[in-house]
Amino acid sequence: MENVSIATILAKAETTHRLEKREIVALLQADACESELYAAADRVRRRFVGDDVHLRGLIEFSNRCGRNCLYCGLRRDNACVERYRLAPDVIVRLATKARGYGYRTVVLQSGEDAWYTVDRMCDIIRRIKALGLTVTLSVGEKPTEVYRAYRQAGADRYLLRIETTDRDLYHALDPGMEWENRLRCLRDLKALGYEVGTGCLVGLPGQRIESLADDILLFQALDADMVGVGPFIANADTPLGGAANGSFDLSCRVMAITRLLLPDINIPATTAMETLHPNGRLLALQRGANVVMPNVTEGDYRRKYALYPGKICIGDTPAHCRSCITGKIGAIGRRISQGHGFRARAGARGALLESSGREGAA
Ligand code: 5AD
Ligand code: SF4
Ligand code: FES
Repeated sequence: MENVSIATILAKAETTHRLEKREIVALLQADACESELYAAADRVRRRFVGDDVHLRGLIEFSNRCGRNCLYCGLRRDNACVERYRLAPDVIVRLATKARGYGYRTVVLQSGEDAWYTVDRMCDIIRRIKALGLTVTLSVGEKPTEVYRAYRQAGADRYLLRIETTDRDLYHALDPGMEWENRLRCLRDLKALGYEVGTGCLVGLPGQRIESLADDILLFQALDADMVGVGPFIANADTPLGGAANGSFDLSCRVMAITRLLLPDINIPATTAMETLHPNGRLLALQRGANVVMPNVTEGDYRRKYALYPGKICIGDTPAHCRSCITGKIGAIGRRISQGHGFRARAGARGALLESSGREGAA
């Protein structure tokens, strides 16, 4: 009986890309139907965004952070982490190398580090744009004018996870931060014409399954262009050190449902997934994901960018990661994209499919 209704919900999701909250909750809880969910997400991924995998070169340019999120190893009260901050010239040099490895996008990620003033950031953005690269920023909450300045300097995309839609949980885990301000940031970024990436953590202490359904509905309401989902991984150097890790399978389910409801967006196979499962990124690519973000940070900085323990690739070079991920993607029959990997809007693609006599993807 339960299987029948799950099959109905899956069929509805695959054809209409709309679900009620209670239907999402049912899918999140249906462990027995996991393979059907993953197969549906994989079909939708293939139909809307194809077999290409977009690679983004990740530059972790500063692990200093003025915030104090309870789950995160970069939180300002964590004295165990050795702090670093890369000079603009070094960041631009890493971006140049990333281009050499064939990446078309670099993701500039850091804690909320005030050393990078608006002028410094804009200068870095302009210099990297001049290399012909697409620039994604992941540097936290900023005032509207700052987002505008980054955009005018040429930034194309911005990543800012909502982390959780449960306001009370957010306020308990992110002291001094306002959930409403995070939402304001996401709306600002959208209005300024960025491609906006958001996402959530799965398995935070006290997080309920209903709130994961709300997370997915929020991604849809925001018209997110990219959604990154990752399991919470307990970090011993934080106040949540003793908490249980999030689940790999539940993270995959959240990601797969996200693919069903936002069929044409970009979804990364996240690093945290591979931390919990040796094949985590490849499995994610077969369950809805179409993006991988290999690290292009060099040397000891990778290890020092310690959001959570067990992070993959900390002893590897950018060149090694590039060939490693290329081999893995090829091994599952997928291709590395040669484009810049902007969101392939369903409208345009649907028209394309209709003209070739196939089902429209509206
Ligand atoms: N486990 C998993 N992901 C984490 N992040 C921060 N701390 C952890 C953790 N302990 C994620 C947050 C943030 C991103 C950069 O890293 O979701 O948005
Ligand atoms: Fe800073 Fe982001 Fe970590 Fe929070 S999650 S402490 S804002 S780096
Ligand atoms: Fe870094 Fe495989 S991607 S070692």
